[in-house]
Amino acid sequence: SVFNHNVDATDKGEFRHYMMKEIYEQSSVISACLEGRISETKVLTSCFGAESEFLKDIENVHIVACGTSYHAGMVAKYWIEDLAGIPCSVEVASEYRYRKVAVPKKTLFLTLSQSGETADTLAALRMAKELGYLTTLAICNVPSSTLVRESALTLLTNAGPEIGVASTKAFTTQLTALLITSVAIAVENGLSAEKEQELVQAMRSLPAYINDALAQDAHIKVIADRFANKHNALFLGRGTMFPIALEGSLKLKEISYIHAEAYPAGELKHGPLALVDEDMPIIALVPHNDMLDKLKSNLQEVAARGGELYVFADKETDLHNEDNIVFTEVPKVDRILEPIVHTIPLQLLSYHVAVVKGTDVDQPRNLAKSVTVE
Ligand code: G6P
Repeated sequence: SVFNHNVDATDKGEFRHYMMKEIYEQSSVISACLEGRISETKVLTSCFGAESEFLKDIENVHIVACGTSYHAGMVAKYWIEDLAGIPCSVEVASEYRYRKVAVPKKTLFLTLSQSGETADTLAALRMAKELGYLTTLAICNVPSSTLVRESALTLLTNAGPEIGVASTKAFTTQLTALLITSVAIAVENGLSAEKEQELVQAMRSLPAYINDALAQDAHIKVIADRFANKHNALFLGRGTMFPIALEGSLKLKEISYIHAEAYPAGELKHGPLALVDEDMPIIALVPHNDMLDKLKSNLQEVAARGGELYVFADKETDLHNEDNIVFTEVPKVDRILEPIVHTIPLQLLSYHVAVVKGTDVDQPRNLAKSVTVE
C-alpha cells in the first residue's frame, strides 16, 4: 500500500516515501505559490519586488535551467510567446554556459532552479551578468540559495523542502510561478484586462483540479503493474504537452530505470514509429483542445502497429478503454492549466512503477538531489 502508518520520526507522515508525500502536497503548495501574487482579477506585479518596472521593458526572454527545471522552462516558452507575443528561448545551462550567446536588446535572463545551487545554472547566471541583459530573474524554491542571492530579482516557488531526488512539487510550483510571470509580461504587451481576469480565475481553480487529478491514484497504481516488466516506453504530446511528456519520461527513467523517450507526437513518423511493436507502451497526453484530431490520428498510427496505448485524457475527448487502449481520466481544465494538471498522473505512474519494481524511490541510483559540481 502507498500508506504506511508505522513510519519513524522522519517527516513522511502517512506516506511510505517522500516522493509520494510531495506529490500529495501539490495542491497546498500551489496555493502557497499563488498566495499574495494574484487578486480576483489581476496578477500582482509587486511579487517581483520593488523593481517590477522591468516588466514594461522586456522584449525577449532567455530561460536557462537543468533537468526538471528545464522542462518547466520549455512550457513557459509556449506561454510567453502565446500570451505576450514576444520571443522566448530555452536552453540547458550546461550548453548555454559554454557557447557564445547572442543577446537581443531588452532581454530578460530567467533561471529556474529548485535548489538554487546547481553549478551549471549558477555559472550561466554569472556569465549572463556580463552579457548586457535587461535584468536577471530567478524562480527558485530556496530563499537562502546562491542563485537567489546573485540574481537581481526573485520569485520564490514556496514549495517547501523537497526531499525526493525526483522533483515533483518543485516542478508544478515552478510552472505556477512561470504562469504568473508570463501573464505579468503579457499584460505589458497588450493582454486585455478581460483575458487577464480569465487567466487569474483559472489559476485560482488550480489547487482543486490538482486534487481531482490525484483522485486517479488507485487506478494508476493498477496500470503501473503492467509496466514492471517493460524495458522501454514512449511518451507523446503536442504543444505544452510535449515538455510534459519529456518530464513524464524523465520521472520514469529516474526512479524506475525504464528507458523512456518523449516526442512531439507529430515527429512519430520521422523515426520513433520504427520502435513500435506489441512490447512498446506508448503514453499519450491528450487534452481536449484544438490539437485533438491531429493527436488522435497519431494514436491511430501507433495502434495500427500493435502498440499498447496508455491515454491520459479528459472525458470530452471521447476516448475510453478499448482493446489496445488503457484510458486514464484527467480533469478537463482551462487550456492554460493543462500542462500542470497533466503532470500529476505521470508522477503517480512513475512512482507506482518504481514501487512495483522495488527501486529506491527517494534515492535513485547514481543521482543527486542537487548537482553542485560539474
Ligand atoms: C538534479 C535533480 C533534478 C533537478 C536538477 C536541477 O539533476 O536530480 O531533480 O531537476 O538537478 O536542479 P535544480 O535544483 O537546479 O532545479
